[in-house]
Amino acid sequence: MAPDPIPHDPNPPLRDQRILLCVCGGIAAYKAADLVRRLQDAGAQVRVAMTENATRFVGTATFQALSGHPVRTSLWDDAAELAMGHIELARWAQRIVIAPATADMIAKLAHGFADDLISTLCLASEAPVTVAPAMNHRMWGHPATQANVATLRSRGVRFLGPAEGRMAEPESGPGRLLEPHEIVTALAGAPA
Ligand SMILES: Cc1cc2nc3c(=O)[nH]c(=O)nc-3n(C[C@H](O)[C@H](O)[C@H](O)COP(=O)(O)O)c2cc1C
Repeated sequence: MAPDPIPHDPNPPLRDQRILLCVCGGIAAYKAADLVRRLQDAGAQVRVAMTENATRFVGTATFQALSGHPVRTSLWDDAAELAMGHIELARWAQRIVIAPATADMIAKLAHGFADDLISTLCLASEAPVTVAPAMNHRMWGHPATQANVATLRSRGVRFLGPAEGRMAEPESGPGRLLEPHEIVTALAGAPA
């Protein structure tokens, strides 16, 4: 297994970058908690948005505690809209990172849907979008998903992974979320 130390860097490449981490509803949502920490360790300011389905896998309290900011899950939150409206949040982001990204969210983004918080934020933002997919290997290999990925790539959306290997089901193939340290290394290596 590859080592994953967090090297000490006095001038980390993600320093002060405002990253909006969008967490979708898949098993790998728990890895996004580690990703928050590692992005912060790399110097980034991180805010987290989740789909409603993501909260079935990991609670908002985890991300709220790690990020130090409220975690939004819905467009329809009057208090949150008063504090930082979704348009302001979309403007705040210098980068949007969707990890884990579900097949569902990839489809929504490819087709320009805006019927939940994350798809709306992505449409309302000019920030570069990076997608780290995680799903069953058949979902990933399905022509519908591959067509959606091609559409997003043609618009400049960057994909990190998926990796190949063992997943939650007793089978393996391409579909695993990249490890959080690999995502941070890839983000640090490319300018926003
Ligand atoms: C136990 C369980 C695990 C799931 N894991 C994944 C997954 O890893 N990737 C994926 O794309 N969908 C997965 N799904 C299906 C998504 O949760 C479903 O498509 C959902 O609508 C996604 O919502 P979201 O894109 O709004 O987060 C899973 C569903 C269940 C019940």
